[in-house]
Amino acid sequence: MPGTVALVVAAGRGSRLGGEIPKQYLPIAGQILLRYSLETLRKHPLIQGVRVVIHPDDRDFYNKAAAGLELLAPVSGGDTRQQSVLNGLESLVAEKPDLVLIHDGARPFLDSATIDRVIAGLANAPGAIAAMPVADTVKRANGTGAIADTIDRRGLWRAQTPQGFRYADILKAHRAQAGRELTDDAAVAEQLGFEVVVVQGSEDNFKVTTREDLGRAERRLIGGTAMDYEYRTGSGFDVHAFEPGDGVWLCGVKVPFEAKLKGHSDADVALHALTDALLGAVSAGDIGQHFPPSDPRWKGANSAQFIKHAADLVAQRGGMITHLDVTIICERPKLGPHREAMVMRLAEILGVAAHRVSVKATTTEKLGFTGRGEGIAAMASATVRMPSSS
Ligand code: CTP
Ligand code: MG
Repeated sequence: MPGTVALVVAAGRGSRLGGEIPKQYLPIAGQILLRYSLETLRKHPLIQGVRVVIHPDDRDFYNKAAAGLELLAPVSGGDTRQQSVLNGLESLVAEKPDLVLIHDGARPFLDSATIDRVIAGLANAPGAIAAMPVADTVKRANGTGAIADTIDRRGLWRAQTPQGFRYADILKAHRAQAGRELTDDAAVAEQLGFEVVVVQGSEDNFKVTTREDLGRAERRLIGGTAMDYEYRTGSGFDVHAFEPGDGVWLCGVKVPFEAKLKGHSDADVALHALTDALLGAVSAGDIGQHFPPSDPRWKGANSAQFIKHAADLVAQRGGMITHLDVTIICERPKLGPHREAMVMRLAEILGVAAHRVSVKATTTEKLGFTGRGEGIAAMASATVRMPSSS
C-alpha cells in the first residue's frame, strides 16, 4: 500500500491512571477514548489506512472501540511503547507505505489540522512531530523539591503525537534501537541522525495519563458546561492500637516512632478511614467486606492497594474524586513535619492533584484512648462527582 498509514499505539496498561480497564478503553462522554482519534485519522483524506497496536488481552475492548470503523487488522504490541511501535512497523513490511504517522491511542483530541501540519512538515524533513512550545519557566529540582537550576525555555518543546516519518527510515531506526525504552519515535529517529522537525500541535491534543486528565477530557467534551453531575460524600473512621515497633504507616508514609500500629495489614489507619470514605461515597460497602481481615492475602498488605481498589470502584461508576480529607487523631508522634509528604503520597497513589487532598492532625487533649497514647484514630471524608444517571 503506497501512501500514508497511521499507526496508533494502544497496547499500554495505563498504570499511572490505574484501574482494571486500560485508560484507552475507558468511556469519556459516552464514547470509548481510543475511538476518538481513530475516527479522526480514518476520516483524514491524506491517510489511506489506520492500524492499531493492541495488547493481546484487550481484543474484546478493541472490537468494541473500533466497531464499524474500516481499519487494518490490529496487531499485538510489546512491553514498552517502543516495542509496540516496532511491532506495528514490522506488520507493515508487506504494505510498505510511503509515510507513517505514529499516534498515541491515549490522545483522543487529535485534530485534522495537526495531522495536516505533520504531513506538511514531512515535505521538508525526514521526520516531523506535533509539539507545543514550553510556556512556563522550567526548573530542575532534586528529590526533596529544592530547585537546582532554571532551564532556559527558549527552544524547548513538549513532544506530542502524531510523529510522522518516511516508513523505510523509521523502520530502520526502530530496528536499530530495538530493546531500548525511548518514549517517543523522534528520539528513535534522532539516534540515527535523521532530522526531525517540530510543527505546532495543539493544547487539546494532550495525553490522558492520570485521573485528572480523564476529568479534563470529559470537561472538554461537554464544552465546560455543567453536565448532569451530582456530588456524593462518604465518611470513614478507623482505629488501630499501638504495639512495640519502630514507626507507624500513615497515608502511605512511614513515620518513625517508638511503636507501630497493630493490624492484619500494614495498619495504615488513615488509608483505611479514607478507603471507607471512598467506598461510602459510592455506596460500595466497607473495607472489611472487600478485604476481610481473615483473608491471609492481606496479611502485612500495603494499604495503598485498598484505597486504589476503592478509587477504581469510583472510576468504574464514571465518578471522579473531587476531594479527600482525613483527620488523624493522636497525641504522638507529631505529624506536622510529615503532612506534606502524606499529601503528596496520597495524590500519587490515587493519581489526583495534591490540591484535592487534605491531611490534618489533632490531639484529644490527653483524653480518652488516643489521649492516653494507646493508639491512633482517623476520620475521613471523600467527595466524588458522579454522573447523575448512575
Ligand atoms: N503503549 C503501547 N505499548 C506499551 C506501552 C505504551 O502501545 N507497552 C502506548 C499506550 O497505550 C499509549 C501510548 O503508548 O497510547 C503512550 O504511553 P503511555 O501514556 O505511557 O501509556 P501507558 O503505558 O498505557 O500508561 P502508563 O505509562 O501510565 O502505564
Ligand atoms: Mg507508559
